[in-house]
Amino acid sequence: MTYLEALNRRYSVKKFNKEKKVPAELIANILEAAKLSASSLGLQPYELIVVESEAVKEQLIPAFYNPSQISTCSHLIAIVSKNNIGSEYIGSYFNHISETREIPLEELGPFRQSISSHIDRLSEEEIMIWADKQSYIVLGNLMFAAALENVDTCPMEGFKQVEIDRILNIDITKEKVAVTLALGYRADEDHFQRFKKVRKPNEHLFKFI
Ligand SMILES: Cc1cc2nc3c(=O)[nH]c(=O)nc-3n(C[C@H](O)[C@H](O)[C@H](O)COP(=O)(O)O)c2cc1C
Repeated sequence: MTYLEALNRRYSVKKFNKEKKVPAELIANILEAAKLSASSLGLQPYELIVVESEAVKEQLIPAFYNPSQISTCSHLIAIVSKNNIGSEYIGSYFNHISETREIPLEELGPFRQSISSHIDRLSEEEIMIWADKQSYIVLGNLMFAAALENVDTCPMEGFKQVEIDRILNIDITKEKVAVTLALGYRADEDHFQRFKKVRKPNEHLFKFI
């Protein structure tokens, strides 16, 4: 399957086949695509919670405005944005770079300084907005990777923030669920799979200058 075939086949599933679970190795591959996502300054200001427990999925159903995906999906991934990107977080990022690339920490000093001064200029709210943008890049990669693995998805931000954060034990002083992705296999009776894609014509979407 080419990537365009995968993207054409992909649609936002409204109802999954509850009997079909996504195998663990495919979930691992899809998560690897999330791990390889680009992020601003490389800081990855997010974490992913993979809900496979039926009991937790059950608890989450009322937290969604359109719950048919949650009650039928195989897995639900919640992408959690973080705004506690302070000196401790940046420090451990630089230790990681130093170890991974075998570069002495001192040599990374100027890079660290420039990242810290950029982050220091942002308010907590601005950091959260910035972190959310990074989370959505992860979402795109997850969806794309899943499509190439023949795994169906529905991106979902139609949830009650307070409810979902509470159920997933999110520390709301420093993080929040940005967006979620339900994964599974489309149910035959989900008629959305047979709808034509509605997209702007190229001349309204692309401008060549
Ligand atoms: C960030 C984001 C959030 C979305 N949230 C929901 C949602 O909460 N519920 C839902 O049924 N669809 C949701 N969608 C699916 C969109 O409605 C869908 O992508 C759009 O209508 C295009 O259709 P397609 O994905 O089937 O091609 C969301 C899509 C994105 C990208």
